Amino acid sequence: MTILKSYLNFLYNSKNEHGVHSPFVFSLLTNCFYDKKKYPEYGILKNYRNSLLLNKNTIQVTDFGAGSRVFKSNKRQISKIAATAGISSKRAELLFRIVNYFQPENILEIGTSLGLATSAMSLGNKNSKVITLEGCPNTINQCQWQLQKFNINNVDCVNTEFSSHLKTYNLQPTTYNLIYFDGNHSKKATLEYFELLLPTLTNDAVWIFDDIHWSKDMEEAWEIIKNHSKVKVTIDTFQWGIVFFRKEQEKEHFVIRT
Ligand SMILES: C[S@@+](CC[C@H](N)C(=O)[O-])C[C@H]1O[C@@H](n2cnc3c(N)ncnc32)[C@H](O)[C@@H]1O
Repeated sequence: MTILKSYLNFLYNSKNEHGVHSPFVFSLLTNCFYDKKKYPEYGILKNYRNSLLLNKNTIQVTDFGAGSRVFKSNKRQISKIAATAGISSKRAELLFRIVNYFQPENILEIGTSLGLATSAMSLGNKNSKVITLEGCPNTINQCQWQLQKFNINNVDCVNTEFSSHLKTYNLQPTTYNLIYFDGNHSKKATLEYFELLLPTLTNDAVWIFDDIHWSKDMEEAWEIIKNHSKVKVTIDTFQWGIVFFRKEQEKEHFVIRT
């Protein structure tokens, strides 16, 4: 299916809070997804983005995974990376609200880039601990400076290759209440990270997968994730697949307009 067909399919099947009978999902939609309040943190996120968009310095980038369709050279301008590789403003605000709503204590991000999503999650719960993984050393250095510049202090930036990190890192004693998967958008990698992170699950865990309709491959990965025995509720927002594991919940899949 092309992305356009997938999108038309999404529009046909998607709904808003009307007709959603699950109290858990209804509350999430009305109090978080469709929350129209202008949070002061949106201003910080805007400034964080603008300062990157104005940064004409170049860095040598190490390419990883399937996410780098746009660039040919390895020398890239910070402003261009921010404009093409990062989360959009609208979605950064939604990510902020999701973190603000659930107040996860431990957050993991797979794919930091320049920290546009990292900063949104960090500000969503200033008491959380955010760990973010990025393979490119120059990109993550740049991100660390940017986070410091904005006094964002609850983030631990880890320069590592995802798969080797998740395989070797002792995950057992760690639990993550929210994981944002935003790097290496391939079926194989997505399912590998999904399996490797299962030992970190808590009942209230929220996992967000970016770009679930980006390719046929990713749509297949999303179907497999939905059908996994541990997965209870899923929400497809077209851009994101959001997964909940709450044992008390009936298995149910929602397709929701944001
Ligand atoms: C789409 S970008 C992340 C965007 C970021 N979350 C944001 O919203 O600004 C994906 C990042 O993951 C990194 N990446 C991709 N595959 C990787 C891998 N296998 N190991 C480590 N880093 C990887 C890339 O270098 C890139 O910076």
